[in-house]
Amino acid sequence: PRTAAVIPAAGRGIRLGPGAPKALRALGGTPMLIHAVRAMAASRAVSLVVVVAPPDGAPEVKHLLDEHALPERTDYLVVPGGDTRQESVGLGLDALPEDIAVVLVHDAARPLVPVDTVDAVVEAVRNGAPAVVPALPLADTVKEVEPAGAAGEPEPVLSTPVRARLRAVQTPQGFDRDTLVRAHAEVALDGEGATDDAGMVERLGKPVVVVPGHEEAFKVTRPLDLVLAEAVLARRRA
Ligand code: CTP
Ligand code: MG
Repeated sequence: PRTAAVIPAAGRGIRLGPGAPKALRALGGTPMLIHAVRAMAASRAVSLVVVVAPPDGAPEVKHLLDEHALPERTDYLVVPGGDTRQESVGLGLDALPEDIAVVLVHDAARPLVPVDTVDAVVEAVRNGAPAVVPALPLADTVKEVEPAGAAGEPEPVLSTPVRARLRAVQTPQGFDRDTLVRAHAEVALDGEGATDDAGMVERLGKPVVVVPGHEEAFKVTRPLDLVLAEAVLARRRA
């Protein structure tokens, strides 16, 4: 079955601070999005990459992709994104050609995911799992709290989930195409925003499985993450 990677890259990057849309910021001199596209194209399983660009940035993103050579076996498409990540992924799914049976969804903000992680996700889907997420055990203990009314106010703790049972999920998340399309069509209607795609499949009542993630698949969210990403890249190039 042909596999495509949808890369939501339409976010502004508010938490990273002022500047260009996050996906277009430089990492080692190259836009973060290009690293993410290359990470997907590095997998021999991926034959199409669909980039979901900032709403007014599709021509610029198309130009960037034309400029940075991808492997010859990889096609790419650029579509404009929406106001939320969920909407952006949905717009990417709408652009998929008929013959795509497996879909990866990968954050442009995870530019350094190793190809072995990508391949492990694809393999688990091809082996029959309708939804697969790479994830890692947590370093920090997690508390559920009653969120404070105002910033800085103490928050009452409600519970402490057993850390050994928790996983921090990454991308690429992999799906049987029909399952993900159905999840987007049905869950989009229930109003509750989902923070990841597998969560929408869970709401359909379908099984989701976890495979090992990778430390280098971390998301560039805040300025410190960019420092780490630059260091990882420098180490790879050394
Ligand atoms: N994303 C998207 N469309 C949106 C919002 C987010 O395609 N409307 C993408 C981002 O470009 C990113 C991924 O979803 O690759 C993960 O989102 P996040 O890390 O939250 O990125 P931003 O939304 O850009 O950052 P912030 O929340 O700090 O503004
Ligand atoms: Mg966001």
